[in-house]
Formats: sequence, structure tokens, C-alpha cells
Amino acid sequence: RNNIDMKDIAYCADVIRNGGLVCFPTETVYGLGASAFNSEAVKNIYKAKGRPADNPLIVHISDYKMLELVTDCDGEQRNVLNKLAEAFWPGPLTLISHRDDAVPAEVSCGLDTVGIRFPSHPIARALIEAAGVPIAAPSANLSGKPSPTRAEHVIEDMMGRVDVIIDGGNCDVGVESTVFDIAGTKMSVLRPGAVTLEQLLSVVNTADELDWMKPHMDSDEKPRSPGLKYRHYAPNATVNIYDGVRPNLSNYIIEEIKNAKRQGFSVGVLATDESICYYKEVDGVVLSLGSLEDSLQQASNLFHCLRRFDDMGVDMVFAEAVPKGGAGDAVMNRLYRAAGGKIVTVETARDSEGHIC
Ligand code: TXA
Ligand code: MG
Repeated sequence: RNNIDMKDIAYCADVIRNGGLVCFPTETVYGLGASAFNSEAVKNIYKAKGRPADNPLIVHISDYKMLELVTDCDGEQRNVLNKLAEAFWPGPLTLISHRDDAVPAEVSCGLDTVGIRFPSHPIARALIEAAGVPIAAPSANLSGKPSPTRAEHVIEDMMGRVDVIIDGGNCDVGVESTVFDIAGTKMSVLRPGAVTLEQLLSVVNTADELDWMKPHMDSDEKPRSPGLKYRHYAPNATVNIYDGVRPNLSNYIIEEIKNAKRQGFSVGVLATDESICYYKEVDGVVLSLGSLEDSLQQASNLFHCLRRFDDMGVDMVFAEAVPKGGAGDAVMNRLYRAAGGKIVTVETARDSEGHIC
């Protein structure tokens, strides 16, 4: 990322301009890009990923002239967009604004809005700049799989399906951008990410966050965040999430693991640096997401851990919930979706005075 060969970038930019597909690193996850102005190329993104046709794409820009080309907004929405762009771009925030007709309907699946992001990753920026067109890009995974945070993940899912894969090393953030809708009647976080609602509220006066545990429909009964209705981010293994306080939590998980082993399943544990010691005796793949206190570290490890369980042939993953706040909401959102929408709450045993025992 710090030693970019501009000849390679020029080659990839040509591929984009000629309607091809290029996988490239961003600070969040790898993207699978095509010219946002070429509807045939955009259709090929859906094919390469096996993506449902009603899940819109994010348009990536590298300067504010491109922003003008892809959005059609003025007045208060324009004000808000400018303020948020100034505060968080380039970076892991996608803004949903009104779509300019220059962006083909295929990008947004016919919605009158468009998701826009100005990534900070130097390779992503160099590629968009050299291509001279905004790049529409979903995450570069096969639909339903965990998003790719390393080139090896992209190679695994996309080799043979795209024209070029750029190896830019590991992505820092590790979970996809925060998606923030500024085009609706109320501004709303549709997908949590590294930029938190709290941070957004330091720039805009009011906004809320969709409760991603529930389906959310607009007035026409269409989902407000189309991407949220699909089971996602899932490894081949079944994922089970447990929430509670240690040591009860770990003891409960260990009992569940014994059950699974008795039934012949191979098991994996997704623990934290603080809890991994409880699973020393487990005969399976035990991984740490990072420190309980460092949600950014958890986010950057999450998808790699999920993919490692698959590589190691794990049938069932037992994951500890992580604390909310910071990037913790994004981590829990992705884990929850990988688990198909369920969390087991482990009751905490207390003594007669209410202390955890
Ligand atoms: O960090 C990221 O955002 C990565 C990198 C490559 O930039 N991209 C990414 O794209 O995660 P994708 O396609 O995997 O997720 C896009 C999300 C989906 O949940 C989609 O429903 C939502 O953004 N989205 C896109 N356009 C939208 C729109 N016009 N209205 C509502 N939601 C939209
Ligand atoms: Mg995705």
C-alpha cells in the first residue's frame, strides 16, 4: 500500500474503463469493482458474486467532482452531506443520498437513492483516480460468505470470476463501512460500522439506528436496508452466539461443546484474549477475536477468524458475544447475521446477595 506501482494501477484502470471487473483493497474489506457508469459491467458484478438482484451497490469516489456526478441533492440534504464528508471522508462511512440519473439504475436496483463512499485506502483511491470514473463495488466475497479482509480470501472466492485481483495486504478496519441514510425522513444508520452513531451525532442533530434484530420496511413494505434481509457473513460452519457473564458463560459453552462432540461434530470456539484460557481443554479450533476492551481489534479479526474455522473443517462455532459500543455493535451485527439471527443468553448464577458466583 505504501509502494504502489502506478503501471499496475494504470493496467487495472484500463480494465475498469473497458467494462471489466477488478478486486481491490479498501480500509474496510476488499471490493469487487466495475465502472459505476457501465450498466453491463455492473450486471457482471452481480453475476460474479451470485448476488441477489435487489441488493444495491456502493459507489466509490476519489474526489468531490465525482460526488457531484453521482448525487442529485440540494438544500438541507446537501448541507448534511457536506458536513459528514468533511468530518469522516475519506474513511469507512457510506452515505445514502439521492441518485443522479448518470448512475444507471442497476447500481441501486432501481432505488432513487445511491450509496456513496470515499475510501481512504491509497490503492483504492489510486485506482478510482486512474480510472477517472466512480467505481461501483460490493464486498469481494461470494454472496453470503464472510467479507474478504485479505487477498487470499478474495482469491478463494473470486479467482476465475473477475479480470484482476490486486493484493494489497490485510484490511485495517475489517468490517464493512457504516451505512448512513441521509435521504430518508429521518437520518438513520442502516448498517453499523467503525463510524458510530455517537460520532455521527456529533455532526448531525438527530439520527437513529435501525434495530438490526428486526426487519425494517418502508411505507411500500420494501426493506429500508435491502442488504440486511439476507443471511450473511456466514462460514460453512453453523455459528452459535452466547451472551452472559464469565465464568458461567464459558462453563455453559463448554457443556454445549461436549454435547456437540458427543454427536460427532468438530467444534470451534470464538473467544477473546481474556477468555481464551477457559477453553484450554477443548478439543477443537480455539481462536481469539482480540481483547474484550478493543472493539477495533475484534472487528479487524472477525472475518478472518470465521474463514479460518472453515479452512480447519469446523462444523460448529461457539462464539462469545462482545460488548456493545464503538465497533462492538458492528462486530455483533455481523456475528448475529452469521448465526442466522439468534443469540443464546446464559443466565448468571447469583448468590443470595446478588453477587455473581
Ligand atoms: O466497506 C464497505 O462498504 C465495502 C467496501 C468494498 O467499500 N462494501 C460493501 O458493499 O460492504 P456491500 O455491497 O457488501 O454492502 C452494501 C450495503 C448493503 O447492505 C446494501 O443494502 C446497502 O449497502 N446499500 C447500498 N446502496 C443502498 C441504498 N441506495 N439504499 C439502502 N441501502 C443501500
Ligand atoms: Mg457484502
